[in-house]
Amino acid sequence: MAGLSQHAHWSSRWTFLLAAVGSAVGLGNIWKFPYEAGEGGGGAFVLVYLAFVFAVGLPVLIAELSLGRRGQLSPIGSMAKIANEEGRSKAWGLIGWSGVVGGFIVISFYSVVGGWVLAYLVKAMSGFSGYDAAISTQTFGTFVADPVSPIIAHFAFLAITIGIVARGVTGGLEKAVTFLMPALFALLVGMMIYSGITGDFGAAVNFLFNPDFAKLTIETVLQALGLAFFSLSLALGSIMTYGSYLTKEMNIPRSAVIIAAADSGVALMAGLAIFPIVFAFGLEPGQSVGLVFTTLPIAFGQMTGGAIVGTMFFFLLTVAAVTSSISLLEPAVSYVEERTGIDRKKVALFIGAAAFALGTLSAWGQGGNLLGDVKILGLDFMSFKDYITNNILMPLGGMFIAIFVGWFISRKTMMEELAMEEGTFKIWLFLVRFVCPVAIGAVFISILYNTIIA
Ligand code: PFF
Repeated sequence: MAGLSQHAHWSSRWTFLLAAVGSAVGLGNIWKFPYEAGEGGGGAFVLVYLAFVFAVGLPVLIAELSLGRRGQLSPIGSMAKIANEEGRSKAWGLIGWSGVVGGFIVISFYSVVGGWVLAYLVKAMSGFSGYDAAISTQTFGTFVADPVSPIIAHFAFLAITIGIVARGVTGGLEKAVTFLMPALFALLVGMMIYSGITGDFGAAVNFLFNPDFAKLTIETVLQALGLAFFSLSLALGSIMTYGSYLTKEMNIPRSAVIIAAADSGVALMAGLAIFPIVFAFGLEPGQSVGLVFTTLPIAFGQMTGGAIVGTMFFFLLTVAAVTSSISLLEPAVSYVEERTGIDRKKVALFIGAAAFALGTLSAWGQGGNLLGDVKILGLDFMSFKDYITNNILMPLGGMFIAIFVGWFISRKTMMEELAMEEGTFKIWLFLVRFVCPVAIGAVFISILYNTIIA
């Protein structure tokens, strides 16, 4: 295959970790986690989410990184190569396809929300003064329903992503994360301290850590699993591709634990940065997608120094979104580059342009916009793509990855890749063989059941 010999590698374990944590930490942590925790009733949701991250997500994360490193190719190339080496059916290659195609679908709408964040970053600079609930909701509604501004923002966000990916693994991805990830971390800690001092920290801690299991429903459990997968960037090719840039010396299980811990740590920190403000201003925590775009601006508009804090917050969100979106574009780029040998810059531009075109449909399907009335299975374009990826491709992809490494790859191969002690290896094997397929399968079936029956 063309391009195989030029396949790049991370220059150090540190840059790999920054890139992988950068992929994992994104809108999922700072935008989705707080509002899903808010809607799901707080502490109980958080506990279930953390259980899924470590019992289901982490073993699959280890599996994906190992498959990528073993294959040393794009997810499609790696899966086909490994299935062949292990004497298994070519059909396993579908895992790679579902990841690359799923990643492409996700970036097409992830970058629309990324555009909203960019636009709000610009708005935040001039402050949100005078924002009350009605004005804030109306401003957001008018913005997303405008046929032009969200498209410009979407374009700008994708242009940043393409610019980084076009420069390659060491020249683009590594350079970006080395600078952006420490900035993200510093901003988050800064926000948390600020909220802790000025906001109602006690109420936030109580909300996030005091579980009320009566509030748990099957819906929230499903949501927690979906979020654990989404947040760890699983089953969409990103992690497998990042794994393919790993060298043999790097210890995968240890890295995976760091990535999962950092990812859930950031989600909790984001909760602790956002909810003290929400409670101090008497706002509603369960404000769905609007939590970040409509609820927080009200608080930024009222607090002293709100323009600075608001700008800091939306910059933080932009950084988190960019380091994730580069990992969503990378799998398709690495595949096309590997198959055709065409220059990466051209490939990144071409796939980025296709994501822009597809994303435009999502942007125009919002809030009564140009395509506002067009529905697929009752959903607008963005919700439809989110549904297909979050509820179908990701759980199924994750389940098949677990089944593949658990049952279809020789123990010797996996022992070699993971270099774990026998006891720990057995725990991992048990998780991928039984716990992951059963947990994901059960959740998947309930989703289907709920969709079809309800
Ligand atoms: N993990 C990212 C987030 O939490 O926002 C989103 C994401 C990136 C999902 C890459 C999947 C993926 F492959």
